[in-house]
Amino acid sequence: MKIAPSIMCSAPWDVKTYVEKFEETKIPLIHYDVMDGNYVPNISVGTGIYADIHSITDLPLDLHLMVQNPDVAVDYFKVMPGDYVSFHPDTIEDPASLLKKIKDKGAVAGVAISPKISLDYVSQLIDNLDFVLIMSVEPGFAGQRMLPASVEKVAELAKMRADNNWNIEIFVDGDCAPKNARKVVDAGADGCVVGSALINKNNKAEDFATTLDKYLEEFNN
Ligand code: DX5
Ligand code: ZN
Repeated sequence: MKIAPSIMCSAPWDVKTYVEKFEETKIPLIHYDVMDGNYVPNISVGTGIYADIHSITDLPLDLHLMVQNPDVAVDYFKVMPGDYVSFHPDTIEDPASLLKKIKDKGAVAGVAISPKISLDYVSQLIDNLDFVLIMSVEPGFAGQRMLPASVEKVAELAKMRADNNWNIEIFVDGDCAPKNARKVVDAGADGCVVGSALINKNNKAEDFATTLDKYLEEFNN
């Protein structure tokens, strides 16, 4: 499974070390949470650090826009070809146009589906969709507990994908600690966003490789 560590969980001064460790450990994607204090109550990092991270690594970023008007916000980010970009389709009138706009930037286009939001968006938008980010917590905060219904939602989406031969990736975001990650991967997810299970105050950025090993050991057992 693909692991996209959530850089929002890092202290700002550790970001550079984490990025170096992500390269060393062959992490495929760096998850980047943007919260506007409007679609979600919390406020997080913005456009500057996004560009800064791109300036120190070739690893793709996984821009998760938890904002109202993501069609406006996206243009302020230095989206590079190969980046993943997702937004919440319930924030916008014409999500299909925004998916096209993201693809025009050479990025991989996705929708993030909050717990109360239906998978109907996926079938409606499938023509322009590369991936779906299933939110397994209410968006806005790291360190929450996974909502149990998320596993069935992933299984339902995986079944829709198989039945219709859809070419989309399924990622899960929210409390993907090893045991939960196992459950959603068994249900059909291709990858997980991992925040506090990997990046937290008890783990040093320098020790990321060891932290990741422990995570994977628990995931595999
Ligand atoms: C939640 C964010 C997540 C968060 C994950 O709103 O979208 O990406 O950083 O953190 P954990 O893994 O701690 O739930
Ligand atoms: Zn996220």
